[in-house]
Amino acid sequence: MNQRLNEYIGIINRRLSELVPECDFGEDIVHEAMKYSLSIGGKRIRPVLVLEFCRICGGSIEDAVDFACALEMVHTYSLIHDDLPCMDDDELRRGMPACHVKFGEAYALLAGDGLLTRAFGVLANSSVSRKNPTVAVNAVSALSYLSGCNGMIGGQVIDLVNESKEATIEVLETLDRLKTGALIRCSAVLGCLCAGADGEKTAACVKFAEKIGHAFQVVDDILDVVGNEQELGKPIGSDADNNKSTYVALLGLEKSKELAVALTDEAIEAIGYFGEEAEFLKDLAVKLTKRSN
Ligand code: IPE
Ligand code: IPE
Ligand code: MG
Ligand code: MG
Ligand code: MG
Repeated sequence: MNQRLNEYIGIINRRLSELVPECDFGEDIVHEAMKYSLSIGGKRIRPVLVLEFCRICGGSIEDAVDFACALEMVHTYSLIHDDLPCMDDDELRRGMPACHVKFGEAYALLAGDGLLTRAFGVLANSSVSRKNPTVAVNAVSALSYLSGCNGMIGGQVIDLVNESKEATIEVLETLDRLKTGALIRCSAVLGCLCAGADGEKTAACVKFAEKIGHAFQVVDDILDVVGNEQELGKPIGSDADNNKSTYVALLGLEKSKELAVALTDEAIEAIGYFGEEAEFLKDLAVKLTKRSN
């Protein structure tokens, strides 16, 4: 699995650096900030998933690369804004100073905006979109919905509203499904669109993505308590400092770990539809529950 994972990450990183080149107007601090946040690290889970969902549904990886990069741009923008003083107020991201620490708040805000808007241009201009405009329309619509107020942004709002409150399990589920689940679900939608997957294949991929997306945030909350700052590349204890509502706060560590494993098992069951072809996704799901960053 690791070999394919590294190949995918190499493809994504090369294309990302082409897609966010130097600014046409010479020196531009916002371009620099966008490139900085994109290039300082990141596991690239969402774009890797786009490529693999496309492959498993019979599509070509080359067709999916720009869709994958667009999703990573939206994710990176969400992290830049998430770290701002008015949000989680964190100074370390991907092992480096957060974008606003390096470039100042105003430019970090604009770098996030720049990545978000660029992402839709990348979707629209990708070779698969030009060949098949219906795919482009559906991709733009999906990314807009899932990153917007009914998706990631909606989740960030619920996250903020529930600071200093004891949220119920139902609220936490919605919070995680939106703030983190939505973009991971988007990786399935984009990958399947690229491959022209049928309803059954798409449903299996989306279910897998929903389950690992939920598990991903539960593990993220766990790592905020038990992680190692150097390995994690972001501050430990940020959730407690901000009185966040998390599974760890509500259920404790052990039950949260059990939940992440149970969700991963459900994900693996869903992707069983693809038989042996699902090996990479199954291994990736398990690897994500055991991650230290
Ligand atoms: C962090 O996402 C924010 C969450 C949604 C939990 P990742 O853990 O995927 O962050 P990077 O991309 O690897 O930095
Ligand atoms: C952020 O969740 C999710 C988004 C950026 C949408 P967190 O606030 O838990 O992410 P980290 O822990 O800072 O990466
Ligand atoms: Mg946050
Ligand atoms: Mg945060
Ligand atoms: Mg977190």
